[in-house]
Amino acid sequence: MTWQHLVVTREEAIAVVQLNRPDVLNALNRALMDELVTVLEDFDRDEEIRCIVLTGSARAFAAGADIREFADASAVDMLQGYRFQQWEHIRKVTKPLIAAVTGFALGGGNELAMLCDMIIAGESARFGQPEINLGLIPGAGGTQRLTRAVGKYRAMELILTGRHVTAREAEAMGLVTRVVPDEMALQEAKALAKEIAARAPVAIRLAKEAVLKAFDTTLEGGLDYERKCFYLLFATEDKEEGVRAFLARRPAQFRGR
Ligand code: COA
Repeated sequence: MTWQHLVVTREEAIAVVQLNRPDVLNALNRALMDELVTVLEDFDRDEEIRCIVLTGSARAFAAGADIREFADASAVDMLQGYRFQQWEHIRKVTKPLIAAVTGFALGGGNELAMLCDMIIAGESARFGQPEINLGLIPGAGGTQRLTRAVGKYRAMELILTGRHVTAREAEAMGLVTRVVPDEMALQEAKALAKEIAARAPVAIRLAKEAVLKAFDTTLEGGLDYERKCFYLLFATEDKEEGVRAFLARRPAQFRGR
């Protein structure tokens, strides 16, 4: 399969999806988002793939929604364009998504990074929600996910001023998993993906679901959900294998069953 706006590679059990519109700093137009949803859903169904890395180019992970594409749109065009449905598809990907970010992750670029489950940032990464400078606000989850990630007082400042934060500042705020030198960002994300890919896939899937549940339920509901997932894993062959392997002091061979 060839892609117009993506470069897609597989390395054993991991997939790497690179956004590829470098001339416009990977601005997220509709065609790119359609391709991204297609490729992520394909990998989500692919039993050989266990973790997905999403990356951009050196100058930008993504500088946001493509401003030229919506410059002349009306409110009704935006409503009927269903552009945010694409984001819902990405939200529903069950396999872990790791963003490797260098350069700008602004607006929709920051929202896309935040839709991922972990963010490895290069030193040059710059995060922000600059929509306010266009007379807009974030529309793909920024007001909700940034607030959950960094808290009300920091999210409010970033969203109301459009200020960009450095990778180090983002790390201190809890917006990224860790910061590494730029040239290591993709490598580090792939190493993390490989580590996760070696774990029991059903447990990984339920762990992701349970952590995400923390964002939209009460503590009691979340604890109950966690426990149900925990019990369910006792029905898996991989739990048998993991426990036997530990007791026999040998590496476990997980099969996703
Ligand atoms: N949509 C469409 N095109 C974009 C874009 C976006 N979100 N972000 C950058 N581009 C394009 C620029 O128009 C420019 O294209 P051109 O060379 O044809 O004029 C090219 O990418 C390079 O960007 P440029 O602005 O020249 O780079 P810079 O280093 O001076 O500034 C940014 C980089 C990221 C600070 C700046 O491009 C910017 O503010 N982008 C918009 C960010 C934003 O508001 N995102 C939210 C959108 S809702």
